[in-house]
Parts: sequence; structure tokens; C-alpha cells
Amino acid sequence: MRNWDDPITESLKQVEVDNNVKDIVEKDTNASDKNIKENEGLTGFEDIEKGANRIQVDDKAIINCRADLNQLIPFKYDWAWQKYLDGSANHWMPEEIPMHDDIKIWNDPKALTEDERKIVEVNLGFFSTADSLVANNLVLAVYKHITNPECRQYLLRQAFEEAIHTHAYTYCVQSLGLDEGKIFNMYREIPAVATKAEWALPFTQSLGDPTFRTGTKENNQRLLRDLIAFYVVFEGIFFYVGFTQILSMGRRNLLTGVAQQFQYILRDESMHMNFGIDVINQIKAENPELWTEQFQSEMIDLIKKGVDLETKYAYDTMPKPILGMNAELFEEYLKFIANRRLLQIDLPEQYPGAKNTFEWMSEIMDLKKEKNFFETRVTEYQTGGQLKFD
Ligand SMILES: [Fe+2]
Ligand SMILES: [Fe+2]
Repeated sequence: MRNWDDPITESLKQVEVDNNVKDIVEKDTNASDKNIKENEGLTGFEDIEKGANRIQVDDKAIINCRADLNQLIPFKYDWAWQKYLDGSANHWMPEEIPMHDDIKIWNDPKALTEDERKIVEVNLGFFSTADSLVANNLVLAVYKHITNPECRQYLLRQAFEEAIHTHAYTYCVQSLGLDEGKIFNMYREIPAVATKAEWALPFTQSLGDPTFRTGTKENNQRLLRDLIAFYVVFEGIFFYVGFTQILSMGRRNLLTGVAQQFQYILRDESMHMNFGIDVINQIKAENPELWTEQFQSEMIDLIKKGVDLETKYAYDTMPKPILGMNAELFEEYLKFIANRRLLQIDLPEQYPGAKNTFEWMSEIMDLKKEKNFFETRVTEYQTGGQLKFD
């Protein structure tokens, strides 16, 4: 408490405290400066170097960069800036999507089977926590190790989109009046949901470790491995059974509001994954020594493990056929997706001849369509119109 009878002595004490804080901050800063080795990257918090040479494109690097991270232009990675613009053009909010029909259907005991209701609940249970996990991984683990301003600009956009996704799942849960405790605890209580989140956690924990720094071959590989785990497996494989299940309900005119939320999310996710793949390939191009035979074979195993877990999720959530789908179709579909993901990061296909058993999903994600989507979305956004299902 401030002593108002003697404010001057009080103010002097305050200056003393401020100096102490300054000492502590300076001591810490000096300590961390000493820890920065020649080949390690910056954070963006470094002192401003007045009168320094202007930043050239070639000074920029995707990891372990030595150039000021607060300066966006000149761009080195146009693809990252373009994705930031495309993502922003695709902005949407969950409340724009009408949920009245869904509420009517959900409350009509005859409108949906028990299995269909279970599919909706389990997927909301998985995604509502999975998207928080992705957001935390981005902000607390990945962001500080990607040392490029245009990529960080996209990461900030992605982080906000992940918040919108968590918002959308919560909005669905609340609109349908589902048991919130049951849905939000599924990742602790339902094995099919828990396994996937559990698999992903170690990959974010290592990067989030405050003592972890890139700069050595081993640690650069660790970052690359964790990016592959999150962008290629978590967002690129683990989301696909659930998305397909919910979107196929929309195609049958069931829960079209929930399905529309998922459709918007899927379009965002397909961009997240493509951004992640560009980042992964850029790191490889700038640091070819990381992409050893052994590392490649570890990454193939990592992706195959992801396919196995997602296949199990398909069998666990769909023990018998519903909505014209069955777990075997998903098993084939996941192999097809995994082949594509492997090729995108220059690894050999692991499932020869796997077929696309859900071609309508590709139409939603196809890049050209995505562009059309962005172009039409502007009008839709202004009029509050809805997407139509085939
Ligand atoms: Fe998301
Ligand atoms: Fe995402």
C-alpha cells in the first residue's frame, strides 16, 4: 500500500524497485545474449541496430536467420505472403451460418439414428480439443523457431483461424444443446479420440521446451520432424475421417449447418497443410544436410503410424456402415491421402495403387476450386449466403 503521508519517500522507493527490475532484465538479457551462438536464429526482440545495412532478400532464411525479424519487406517467400492474403480473403465467423434446421433435426428423435448422433458427438469431441492443441503448438512451440517475417505473418493468421475453428465447434455444441462436459472431456475418456492427441503431444512438447534452440543439425531435424508431425500427419491425415463423416451428412441434407461449419474449416485446413508443406520443403532446400536417408525413413514411419492411428479411428467410430460409408472405404482413402502427402515432401509412395474412395472430398479441397471459393466467398460473406452441397 502506498503511504500517502510521505509520498516522496514512497516515490524514491518505487525508483529503487524499478532499478531492481531493470537490473534483473539486463542480467537476463545479457545471459541470453551469451547463449546465442553464431548459427542460431533471432527472435525479433533483439536491440535495433541503428544505421545497419539495409536488409536484402538473401539475408533472410526460414530458420536460424541472422537478419532483423521485424522487417516484412523485401519478401523472400512470396508463397507465404500470398497464403496470408488468401486466408484473409476467406475470413468467416461461425455465427454467420444458420443452425435452426440442425436444432430441429437434432431434437427430432426420429430424424437421426443413434450411430449418426454418435458420429457427430465424437467428432466434435475430437476436433474441439485438437484445434486448441494445434493453436498452442503454433503459438508456443513453432512460431519462435520460424525466423521469417512473412511466414510468421501467415502463422498469426493461422493461429486466429484455429481460434475460429474451436469457436465453431463450441458453437455447434451449444446450438445443438449437447452435453458440454461429455464432449470436451472425450479426449480424456474415449480411447479413439485420446490416442491421436496423445500421439501428437511429444512433438509439441520438445519444441515448446524453453531450453530448446535450433542451430545444430540434431535440433534442426527435430524442428523439421515436428513440423511434419503437425502439418502432414495431424492436420493432413488425422482430420480426414471426421471431416468426411460430417460432410457426408451435409450431402444427405442432415445437419447442414454443422456440415457447413466443417466445410469452411476444411478449406482453411487444406491451406494450413499446404503452407506447412511449403515451409518443410523450404527448410529442406536451405538445409539439405538435414534430409538424410535415415531421417527420410524415420519420416516415412511417422506418416505410416499416422495412417494406422487414423484407420483405427475410422473403425472405432464406424463399427458398422452408415451414410453410405464404411471403415474399409476410409482405410483405402487414408492410404490414398498418405501417398499424396508423401509425394508432396518428396518421399516415395507407400501404398501403391491406393484409390480415392471419396472423390467429392477432393473437389472441396482442389486448389482451383479453392480459388473459386475465395472469389465467390466475398459476395457470400457480404450477403450472409450459404454454401450449397452437391
Ligand atoms: Fe483448425
Ligand atoms: Fe489448422
